[in-house]
Amino acid sequence: MRILIAGGAGYIGSHMVRMLDSLGHQVVTFDDLSAGFRDAVLGGEFVQGSLHDKVALKSLFDANQFDAVVHFAGSIAVGESVRDPAKYYQNNLAGTLNLFDAMREHGVNKIVFSSTAAIFGNPQYVPIDEVHPQSPINPYGMTKWITEQMLRDYDSAYGFRSVALRYFNAAGASPDAALGERHDPETHLIPLVLRAAKGELPALTVFGTDYDTPDGTCVRDYIHIEDLCAAHVLALQHLISGGDSRAYNLGNGQGYSVKQVIEVAEKVCGKSVPVQYGPRRAGDPPSLVADASKIRKDWGWEPKYGELETIIKHAWQWEVRKR
Ligand code: UFG
Repeated sequence: MRILIAGGAGYIGSHMVRMLDSLGHQVVTFDDLSAGFRDAVLGGEFVQGSLHDKVALKSLFDANQFDAVVHFAGSIAVGESVRDPAKYYQNNLAGTLNLFDAMREHGVNKIVFSSTAAIFGNPQYVPIDEVHPQSPINPYGMTKWITEQMLRDYDSAYGFRSVALRYFNAAGASPDAALGERHDPETHLIPLVLRAAKGELPALTVFGTDYDTPDGTCVRDYIHIEDLCAAHVLALQHLISGGDSRAYNLGNGQGYSVKQVIEVAEKVCGKSVPVQYGPRRAGDPPSLVADASKIRKDWGWEPKYGELETIIKHAWQWEVRKR
């Protein structure tokens, strides 16, 4: 298959590029490097360009006959989306519309889309299955929710076939430590915990200890980056073999609190993590856990690295190696 990876220089995109490349597919990364890193693209071709540049998109699609697109290009920080919604509507919706236009103009109608647990808003129940009501509470989640609605309309009007994967908390690194989680600035829990363990951060701030959860800190469902990418491979196979449009929740189905993550990290690193307790971070739901039984049942997806300890071990190997 010849696959376009929009946002292939980012955290998830770069692992995806490497996995598809190792499976023998022809991969083209299109990324403006606003949040990604050129040296994270370890296979295939790289084209630097932005989804806001229609001319660049046209030449990309003129030069390649893509079988499918995997769309990771977008802004991802919930807090920032509340402070600067225009950036999110620009990048995640206007940019996506340009990508979809280029696909339509070039007869490419298969796409795997990075969606998020944030489309569900404050959960009414956990674990969250696909029929849980969708009601995003921040602009980031809203842009992903709107894109899912666009995909539904594009399916009926233009024959677009899509798989939207709603990620819970992507985490970890490639087991050989060649790639890992890299954001600038970093806001995610596991990399920050590990940096505190390394002494690069004076302390990890725990955002809120008064949630309605067993130990008062937020509960999340951490899924290994390679398990997440493996689900995309299944989604591509489904679309290429003529499958219909689908949406799946993607997580391990097990929640861990912030305090539990810190405890497991201390065990993995053999170091203590200095911690300070702060107020709640705006927009954080108390608990987000996936019910991923649908993707398991439909496609036989099974996490290979379902243990939090393994996820953190791989993240730690990457943190230690990268400097
Ligand atoms: N946390 C801390 N201290 C930190 C960083 C995070 O206590 O320094 C806590 C957060 O409050 C949260 C948990 O750790 O309770 C996980 O936070 P992350 O920032 O790692 O991840 P989120 O759950 O906020 O975000 C993830 C994705 C988003 C997505 C969201 C909802 O990164 O893209 O899940 O699906 F929108």
